[in-house]
Amino acid sequence: MMMISRNDPCWCQSGQKWKKCHFPNPGSQSQTELRAQYLKKHGIVLKTGEQIQGIRHACHLAAQILDKTCKMAKKGVTTNALNAYAHQLHLEAGAIPAPLGYGEPPFPKSICTSLNEVICHGIPDDTPLKEGDILNIDVTCILNGYYGDCSRMVAIGQVDPEKQKVIDVSYECLIRSIALLKPGMMIFEIGNAIESYATAQGCSVVNQFVGHGTGIDFHEPPQIPHHYNQIFIPLAVGMTFTIEPMINAGNRPGYVDSRDHWTARTMDGKPSAQWEHTLLITEKGHEILTCLN
Ligand code: MF3
Ligand code: CO
Ligand code: CO
Repeated sequence: MMMISRNDPCWCQSGQKWKKCHFPNPGSQSQTELRAQYLKKHGIVLKTGEQIQGIRHACHLAAQILDKTCKMAKKGVTTNALNAYAHQLHLEAGAIPAPLGYGEPPFPKSICTSLNEVICHGIPDDTPLKEGDILNIDVTCILNGYYGDCSRMVAIGQVDPEKQKVIDVSYECLIRSIALLKPGMMIFEIGNAIESYATAQGCSVVNQFVGHGTGIDFHEPPQIPHHYNQIFIPLAVGMTFTIEPMINAGNRPGYVDSRDHWTARTMDGKPSAQWEHTLLITEKGHEILTCLN
């Protein structure tokens, strides 16, 4: 793919380098100007300091609920029991579980639990976890009107090498892409980092679901694809969004369950894994908002 560089000539034909001309450079534009530009051009809300504080709190809570729920995921426990526990933790913290009633048809539970070949949006039920399962737990909470969204994998007992591999590769994809985040980096570079690594490991990257802006709403612009893409939007200070790569051991295609309209499974039945963080772009680079403490 052609890399566009900040040193390339500006598109406006001024003859100046893009970075000196129309590049949205936080140093040369006030944050207020930048905010107006991102909203108008991309529909992206660059958050104010006050909003960031609210989102940070929601994200910390989501991370804590996720951590506690993952610790409860053991052999014999049902995904419904995990859901009830996570739901209770939201209520105790004065928060709302964002998935409950979300979308069309309304999502029926408070968290997503995606087992083995389920790519994402698995619905908790009475299935007990068993030896050798891999499980993604995805928690999104609303605290004081602000959203925090994160997910992790849990292995139940000993898992086969193919399952361990997708767990490890998807984690590495998330960490490698987060490490690159800073103002001016292009959204497409996130997908480059993820797909190049995943395919080198013999895995595939799901392209039917993407990361997303979040914080004020559950899902906001921009979309953050994890696969190769052409989104030439530079990251800017105050952006809050998720990266949540879904990595398959086999082929990329998945399908959504025709009865529940939510559960997405791999077409070939091979395992899939996902990890998710909510991130903030800062002047120095980035902050992982969905971290513990
Ligand atoms: N938390 C998921 C995400 O990462 C979205 C779940 S939507 C739901 O974007 F309705 F399934 F909860
Ligand atoms: Co998300
Ligand atoms: Co999520």
